[in-house]
Amino acid sequence: MQLQSTDPNLQTFWHVCGLDKDDERVMRAVRGYIQPLIPRLTDAFYEILATDPQTAPLIEGRVAQLKRTHIAWLESLFNGDYGAAFISRQRQIGAVHVRAKIPPTFVAASMSFLRGALPDVLAANVADKDGAKAATGTLLRLLDLCQFLIDRSYDGTLSDGLMNNLGISPALLARLQTAGKKF
Ligand code: HEM
Repeated sequence: MQLQSTDPNLQTFWHVCGLDKDDERVMRAVRGYIQPLIPRLTDAFYEILATDPQTAPLIEGRVAQLKRTHIAWLESLFNGDYGAAFISRQRQIGAVHVRAKIPPTFVAASMSFLRGALPDVLAANVADKDGAKAATGTLLRLLDLCQFLIDRSYDGTLSDGLMNNLGISPALLARLQTAGKKF
């Protein structure tokens, strides 16, 4: 797949993480095995969110709707189309979470849940073992890509608001983020 973006950081992310044109084929090949299992995985995910004292109140009363959107998002990872619409959807999801005041740590924890759970689902359910292995690599890259894009919506709130008010440019912010720190 070709990245359709002029964003230099996204280009570097794409290049270094190693997404390439084979990934579309790899993911489409396993889609039929995984799609029927996504609702069960989603139920398990929301059970965990519902049992944590910090995440439970954030999803209370809207679990059925959230499960539907989460299932659609998970399915999109297996659709083999990671073009401009996919990228802009992740940014939009980030913006929705910023608006809903979901801390990025909780999104990171959720991605970690998926990274832990999905490789086993692929290994146990895809008949072609090499295909399952290839799809695991692609899936982990895609989850990282999604997290990177969602996370940047939180950065945006800083640079659009606070950082602009402080007169801190994106380049200066990058220098500040990587300035020496004593551990
Ligand atoms: C892997 C991490 C996550 C993914 C991929 C994800 C995905 C999504 C998607 C696709 C939507 C619908 C966006 C839209 O309306 O366009 C959504 C909305 C929402 N998510 Fe998540 N989510 C994640 C983690 C979380 C966590 C950890 C929480 C809370 C603890 C959460 C709470 C919500 C809420 C409350 C909404 C609805 C916001 C609104 O409509 O006002 N999400 N999420």
